[in-house]
Amino acid sequence: MKPCASVIETIGNTPVVELSRLTGGLEGRILAKLEYLNPGFSKKDRIARQIIEDAEAEGRLRSGQTVVELTSGNTGTGLAMVCAVKGYRFVAVMSRGNSIERARMMAALGAEVALVDQLPGSRPGQVSGGDLELVERETQRIVEERSAFRADQFRLQSNFRAHYLYTGPEFIRQSAGAIQAFCDFVGTGGSFAGCAAAFKAYDSSIRCYVVEPAEAAVLADAAVTDPNHRIQGGGYAIRDLPLLRPEHVDGYLAVTDEEAVQMARKLAREEGIFAGFSSGANVAAAVQLLGGAHKGQTVAVLINDSGLKYLSTDLWA
Ligand SMILES: Cc1ncc(COP(=O)(O)O)c(C=O)c1O
Repeated sequence: MKPCASVIETIGNTPVVELSRLTGGLEGRILAKLEYLNPGFSKKDRIARQIIEDAEAEGRLRSGQTVVELTSGNTGTGLAMVCAVKGYRFVAVMSRGNSIERARMMAALGAEVALVDQLPGSRPGQVSGGDLELVERETQRIVEERSAFRADQFRLQSNFRAHYLYTGPEFIRQSAGAIQAFCDFVGTGGSFAGCAAAFKAYDSSIRCYVVEPAEAAVLADAAVTDPNHRIQGGGYAIRDLPLLRPEHVDGYLAVTDEEAVQMARKLAREEGIFAGFSSGANVAAAVQLLGGAHKGQTVAVLINDSGLKYLSTDLWA
């Protein structure tokens, strides 16, 4: 392996591991792509690179311009890293409800971190759609104030493209085309949509399932019974996600906080995979599929980020 020109070149090409200890007793296989092995310890490094490089190539980002984005921490860490290497100033706007490790890591990478208070009554560790609206308002204000480039992960096609061009095709190659189903906990929907589009382009019979918090499953058209869940990085109860296309969705799965937490702990203890809440949610949903419609088949999941990002939370208590 030749030396890389920068850390940006080390993003992607993450390994796939079969979770055979965890699925013991179940019929079927779960293949997990270890996205926490990216240099910023999450899958979001991929979209950070794609957003900045697409914008540079298309002339939407000028040299010396400030980059701003609303983030639950992972996209911000990726952007902080990419901006540090490329010499852009980066401002991350994040809810105080997200774990503090993320803010510290972004600051260490040279980002300016703007923390936004949660709504009265919201709980730390539980970022709701309402909390996110406050973060969105502050992000728009900073973008305007600084004539900045908004690395808009909820809207920019680069988010989709990062997974359509790389994550999905890597997964197909690494699994020798054995995948029959894919399920993914949705935030922006970029990972789900990009991977689902790549999987379906390869084999239209691969079934793709959106994963949501059980009490805020709005994409499945269920009523929101509690918007304050613990699965950080998604499940914002936003009905209209610009990157999520109906033709890629074959079904919806719901996971409770407790299921996500227990599965994240099981992943650590039984597979030695130290990941966060949403990775636990993905694997819990995959187990549901193996117990039902996809019994005996192979289900693909992403392990979204590192458990290190949650040391201040009760995930490892
Ligand atoms: C830990 C974690 N899990 C899941 C997601 C959701 O991914 P996506 O935005 O691609 O739907 C995110 C997004 O920020 C995340 O940080």
